[in-house]
Amino acid sequence: MVTLTQPGSGIPRRTGHRPGADRTVTVTAPGKVNLQLSVGPLRPDGYHELLTVFQAVSLADQVVARHSEVLTVTSSGLASPPMPLDGSNLAARAAQLLATEAGIAPAVHLHLHKRVPIAGGMAGGSADAAAALVACSRLWDLRLSTDDLLQLAERLGSDVPFTLLGGTAVGTGRGERLAPLPAAGIWHWVFALDRTGLSTPDVYNRHDHLQAGRTPPEMALSSALLDAISTGNPRDLGRALRNDIEDAVYSLRPDLRRTIEAGRAAGALGALIAGTGPTCAFLVADRASAHTLVSALSGIGGTARYGYGPVAGPLSF
Ligand code: C5P
Repeated sequence: MVTLTQPGSGIPRRTGHRPGADRTVTVTAPGKVNLQLSVGPLRPDGYHELLTVFQAVSLADQVVARHSEVLTVTSSGLASPPMPLDGSNLAARAAQLLATEAGIAPAVHLHLHKRVPIAGGMAGGSADAAAALVACSRLWDLRLSTDDLLQLAERLGSDVPFTLLGGTAVGTGRGERLAPLPAAGIWHWVFALDRTGLSTPDVYNRHDHLQAGRTPPEMALSSALLDAISTGNPRDLGRALRNDIEDAVYSLRPDLRRTIEAGRAAGALGALIAGTGPTCAFLVADRASAHTLVSALSGIGGTARYGYGPVAGPLSF
């Protein structure tokens, strides 16, 4: 079922769109890794207050939009864990939301080429929503501003605004309030993929359970991390990586500690769970070391992918 949201974000309503039936619009949106993820208290709206540093990476999803009688979604690329292709798919929800706001039918076929892990903690669904928003607004010639698209993105999910913009950025609120961070250079990452996903709400619930009765951690940006981002030194960045929600992830998936240790033993400069997991992210010195680590992790039975960051999103800052 398609989730309909209330019209009224101020987007001009259109009575129709140009035919151009054969036209396709292709938009790519990046996955992300959180270089710092500090989790504050649970808010009354069910979200946690966050202080995070996002980095968009070259492991990205592509969305191809073309006119169609009805809203349909297909996919290629990564296929596990399974992803719904009905109206609950985040790309479909993005198309539906945009069409509702513009006062038109969501007459689009979306093909998602998946490279960002599904339910992997790298904002794969958010990237699809971000790419679908931009692709549909171009296909339907809606001429929306960046602010219009960011407002819609925020309604679709906490990470969708970041996957629209990309780069490296501080995220606050539930992750949707963004401030760009100038980053020196390019960092090389290896991502150990997992065949099963983790549910984000489950990980946050486990975090709350583990934190119950404890003093909440201080919510401050790590100065070591900020220094490493501004100088570009991968060794310093490797040491400064920090994810507060890792213990909750390990509590649900203790086996991931072995993957993290295997990556460290094979030469990673830094290792952490990507967002709410279960993808494990390893920072390495250069592209050659990345390929060595991809082979090492594949050798112990896993699937690993190379990606560099930061990369721009479809809109950029
Ligand atoms: O915003 P999004 O739909 O991606 O969030 C999915 C779920 O993750 C939320 O329903 C909530 O349970 C959890 N979440 C949270 N705090 C955040 C972001 C997400 O608790 N800042």
